[in-house]
Amino acid sequence: MAKPLFIIIFTITVSFLSVASYQNATTLTAAHTELIKYGFPVGLLPTNIVTYNLNRTSGDFVVKLGDTCRITLPPDNYLATYSKSITGKIVENRIAELNGIGVRAFFRWWGITGIRSNGQDLTFEVGYITKSFPSKTFDQSPECEGLSSSS
Ligand SMILES: *[C@@H]1O[C@H](CO)[C@@H](O)[C@H](O)[C@H]1NC(C)=O
Ligand SMILES: *[C@@H]1O[C@H](CO)[C@@H](O)[C@H](O)[C@H]1NC(C)=O
Repeated sequence: MAKPLFIIIFTITVSFLSVASYQNATTLTAAHTELIKYGFPVGLLPTNIVTYNLNRTSGDFVVKLGDTCRITLPPDNYLATYSKSITGKIVENRIAELNGIGVRAFFRWWGITGIRSNGQDLTFEVGYITKSFPSKTFDQSPECEGLSSSS
Protein backbone atom coordinates (compact mmCIF):
# COMPACT_ATOMS: atom_id res chain seq x y z
CA MET A 1 0.00 0.00 0.00
CA ALA A 2 2.78 2.41 0.91
CA LYS A 3 4.75 1.82 -2.25
CA PRO A 4 2.51 3.57 -4.85
CA LEU A 5 2.19 6.58 -2.57
CA PHE A 6 5.96 6.76 -2.24
CA ILE A 7 6.30 6.61 -6.01
CA ILE A 8 3.76 9.40 -6.48
CA ILE A 9 5.51 11.64 -3.97
CA PHE A 10 8.87 10.83 -5.52
CA THR A 11 7.56 11.70 -8.98
CA ILE A 12 6.08 14.99 -7.80
CA THR A 13 9.33 15.92 -6.06
CA VAL A 14 11.35 15.17 -9.17
CA SER A 15 9.02 17.29 -11.31
CA PHE A 16 9.40 20.20 -8.90
CA LEU A 17 13.16 19.85 -9.02
CA SER A 18 13.16 19.88 -12.83
CA VAL A 19 11.01 23.00 -12.86
CA ALA A 20 13.41 24.66 -10.43
CA SER A 21 16.50 23.92 -12.51
CA TYR A 22 14.68 24.92 -15.70
CA GLN A 23 13.94 28.33 -14.17
CA ASN A 24 17.57 28.73 -13.15
CA ALA A 25 18.71 28.02 -16.65
CA THR A 26 16.39 30.63 -18.14
CA THR A 27 17.31 33.40 -15.69
CA LEU A 28 20.83 33.30 -17.12
CA THR A 29 20.64 35.27 -20.35
CA ALA A 30 23.07 35.61 -23.24
CA ALA A 31 24.53 38.63 -21.45
CA HIS A 32 25.47 36.44 -18.47
CA THR A 33 27.11 33.90 -20.79
CA GLU A 34 29.03 36.74 -22.38
CA LEU A 35 30.33 37.84 -18.95
CA ILE A 36 31.82 34.38 -18.39
CA LYS A 37 33.53 34.46 -21.80
CA TYR A 38 35.22 37.72 -20.83
CA GLY A 39 36.42 36.36 -17.48
CA PHE A 40 33.71 37.71 -15.16
CA PRO A 41 31.22 35.94 -12.85
CA VAL A 42 27.48 36.07 -13.72
CA GLY A 43 26.63 37.74 -10.41
CA LEU A 44 27.66 41.15 -11.75
CA LEU A 45 24.33 41.40 -13.57
CA PRO A 46 20.90 40.87 -12.05
CA THR A 47 18.38 38.41 -13.51
CA ASN A 48 15.97 40.92 -15.07
CA ILE A 49 17.89 41.56 -18.30
CA VAL A 50 15.66 42.35 -21.28
CA THR A 51 18.17 42.97 -24.05
CA TYR A 52 21.87 43.38 -24.51
CA ASN A 53 24.05 44.53 -27.36
CA LEU A 54 27.78 44.05 -27.76
CA ASN A 55 30.07 45.33 -30.46
CA ARG A 56 32.79 42.67 -30.51
CA THR A 57 35.18 44.98 -32.33
CA SER A 58 35.08 47.90 -29.91
CA GLY A 59 33.79 46.05 -26.82
CA ASP A 60 31.01 48.63 -26.38
CA PHE A 61 27.98 47.11 -24.73
CA VAL A 62 24.46 48.14 -23.69
CA VAL A 63 22.44 46.06 -21.22
CA LYS A 64 18.77 46.94 -20.72
CA LEU A 65 16.95 45.82 -17.59
CA GLY A 66 13.19 45.43 -17.19
CA ASP A 67 13.35 48.06 -14.46
CA THR A 68 15.81 49.80 -12.18
CA CYS A 69 17.13 47.39 -9.63
CA ARG A 70 18.38 47.39 -6.05
CA ILE A 71 20.71 44.65 -4.83
CA THR A 72 22.69 43.97 -1.68
CA LEU A 73 26.17 42.98 -2.84
CA PRO A 74 27.30 39.84 -1.04
CA PRO A 75 30.72 40.56 0.52
CA ASP A 76 30.07 43.49 2.87
CA ASN A 77 26.37 44.07 2.20
CA TYR A 78 26.95 47.15 0.11
CA LEU A 79 23.73 48.45 -1.37
CA ALA A 80 23.96 48.72 -5.15
CA THR A 81 21.57 50.12 -7.72
CA TYR A 82 21.34 49.31 -11.40
CA SER A 83 19.86 51.77 -13.89
CA LYS A 84 17.54 50.50 -16.60
CA SER A 85 20.37 50.98 -19.06
CA ILE A 86 23.96 49.94 -18.29
CA THR A 87 26.71 50.82 -20.74
CA GLY A 88 30.45 50.29 -20.90
CA LYS A 89 33.33 48.75 -22.75
CA ILE A 90 34.34 45.13 -22.14
CA VAL A 91 37.55 43.35 -23.06
CA GLU A 92 39.08 40.22 -21.53
CA ASN A 93 39.12 40.70 -17.72
CA ARG A 94 38.32 44.39 -17.90
CA ILE A 95 35.17 46.52 -17.99
CA ALA A 96 35.77 50.24 -18.48
CA GLU A 97 33.74 53.43 -19.02
CA LEU A 98 30.99 51.78 -16.99
CA ASN A 99 27.77 53.70 -16.53
CA GLY A 100 24.62 52.68 -14.67
CA ILE A 101 25.81 50.84 -11.56
CA GLY A 102 25.97 52.76 -8.29
CA VAL A 103 27.06 51.68 -4.84
CA ARG A 104 26.30 53.20 -1.44
CA ALA A 105 29.33 53.79 0.79
CA PHE A 106 30.42 56.48 3.22
CA PHE A 107 26.89 57.96 3.26
CA ARG A 108 26.64 58.70 -0.44
CA TRP A 109 26.20 57.07 -3.85
CA TRP A 110 29.20 56.38 -6.06
CA GLY A 111 29.14 55.35 -9.69
CA ILE A 112 31.24 52.26 -10.37
CA THR A 113 33.39 53.28 -13.33
CA GLY A 114 35.24 50.03 -14.02
CA ILE A 115 35.69 46.41 -12.96
CA ARG A 116 38.79 44.25 -13.37
CA SER A 117 39.12 40.50 -12.96
CA ASN A 118 42.21 38.37 -12.41
CA GLY A 119 40.26 35.12 -12.09
CA GLN A 120 40.51 35.12 -8.28
CA ASP A 121 39.36 38.60 -7.39
CA LEU A 122 37.21 41.35 -8.81
CA THR A 123 38.43 44.89 -8.41
CA PHE A 124 35.78 47.59 -8.49
CA GLU A 125 36.87 51.07 -9.48
CA VAL A 126 35.21 54.29 -8.44
CA GLY A 127 37.39 56.81 -10.22
CA TYR A 128 40.83 56.22 -8.74
CA ILE A 129 39.54 54.41 -5.65
CA THR A 130 39.50 50.60 -5.89
CA LYS A 131 38.21 47.77 -3.76
CA SER A 132 38.65 44.02 -4.36
CA PHE A 133 36.40 41.08 -3.51
CA PRO A 134 36.73 37.32 -4.21
CA SER A 135 35.07 36.52 -7.57
CA LYS A 136 33.30 33.49 -6.11
CA THR A 137 31.01 35.72 -4.03
CA PHE A 138 29.45 36.76 -7.37
CA ASP A 139 28.76 33.24 -8.65
CA GLN A 140 24.98 33.68 -8.63
CA SER A 141 23.02 36.26 -10.57
CA PRO A 142 21.10 38.27 -7.95
CA GLU A 143 17.36 38.94 -7.99
CA CYS A 144 16.37 42.59 -7.73
CA GLU A 145 15.12 43.50 -4.27
CA GLY A 146 12.93 46.35 -5.43
CA LEU A 147 12.97 49.67 -7.16
CA SER A 148 15.92 51.92 -6.60
CA SER A 149 15.44 55.58 -5.82
CA SER A 150 17.85 56.67 -8.54
CA SER A 151 17.01 55.89 -12.15
C1 LIG B 1 18.92 27.26 -8.63
O1 LIG B 1 18.98 28.45 -7.87
C2 LIG B 1 18.98 28.23 -6.49
C3 LIG B 1 18.92 29.58 -5.77
O2 LIG B 1 19.24 30.63 -6.62
C4 LIG B 1 20.24 27.44 -6.11
O3 LIG B 1 20.27 27.19 -4.73
C5 LIG B 1 20.24 26.11 -6.86
O4 LIG B 1 21.45 25.44 -6.61
C6 LIG B 1 20.11 26.36 -8.36
N1 LIG B 1 19.95 25.09 -9.07
C7 LIG B 1 20.65 24.78 -10.15
C8 LIG B 1 20.32 23.49 -10.79
O5 LIG B 1 21.50 25.56 -10.63
C1 LIG C 1 31.78 48.51 -33.79
O1 LIG C 1 32.93 49.20 -33.42
C2 LIG C 1 33.79 49.52 -34.52
C3 LIG C 1 35.07 50.11 -33.94
O2 LIG C 1 34.83 51.19 -33.08
C4 LIG C 1 33.05 50.47 -35.44
O3 LIG C 1 33.86 50.77 -36.54
C5 LIG C 1 31.76 49.79 -35.92
O4 LIG C 1 31.02 50.68 -36.70
C6 LIG C 1 30.94 49.33 -34.74
N1 LIG C 1 29.81 48.52 -35.22
C7 LIG C 1 28.56 48.79 -34.89
C8 LIG C 1 27.53 47.85 -35.43
O5 LIG C 1 28.23 49.74 -34.17
